[in-house]
Amino acid sequence: MSVSTAVQIKTAETKTTKIALTVNGQVQRLDLDLRTSLLDALREHLHLTGTKKGCDHGQCGACTVLINGRRINSCLTLAVMHEGDDIVTIEGLGAPGALHPLQAAFVEHDGFQCGYCTPGQICSAVAVLDEIRRGIPSHVSRDLVAAPAISADEIRERMSGNICRCAAYPNIVAAIREVAEGGRK
Ligand code: FES
Ligand code: FES
Repeated sequence: MSVSTAVQIKTAETKTTKIALTVNGQVQRLDLDLRTSLLDALREHLHLTGTKKGCDHGQCGACTVLINGRRINSCLTLAVMHEGDDIVTIEGLGAPGALHPLQAAFVEHDGFQCGYCTPGQICSAVAVLDEIRRGIPSHVSRDLVAAPAISADEIRERMSGNICRCAAYPNIVAAIREVAEGGRK
């Protein structure tokens, strides 16, 4: 067998596996190429296109979703690693007429322009509020054992993995701060 034939045979073999993911409270059964990222499983297989693909390299945060309550860049993790995990996307946080408090605050504070980064920003912010509630310090927390302050600096630092090319940052911070301070439930 020539080398090129061997390469062709190897390329033609696609390993798939059956997995079950719990997404927004529903069990979803998929037969996926082992190399499928969680982001592509959500967007291309489950058609949950709220989660966005920006860089596909872990640089922009547009693909942020919640897994077991923690935020993760879904472009950097394989779907097969999440059998049995509880995955929440922007579609699972709220709906028109029943918005999540952060979704409502983003609307109120004009926390977006094109909106491409917004699902990732909001999923990330949900986890940020939980991190603050649980007393997890950030790189700008002055006291590592005291409850983290709810300040613009803290929010900016904790949201620094979510890039907004429209630069809606001041309004994003204002929206998150309002919810963090209990102004919107
Ligand atoms: Fe995942 Fe940019 S698309 S971090
Ligand atoms: Fe356009 Fe953030 S609102 S990238």
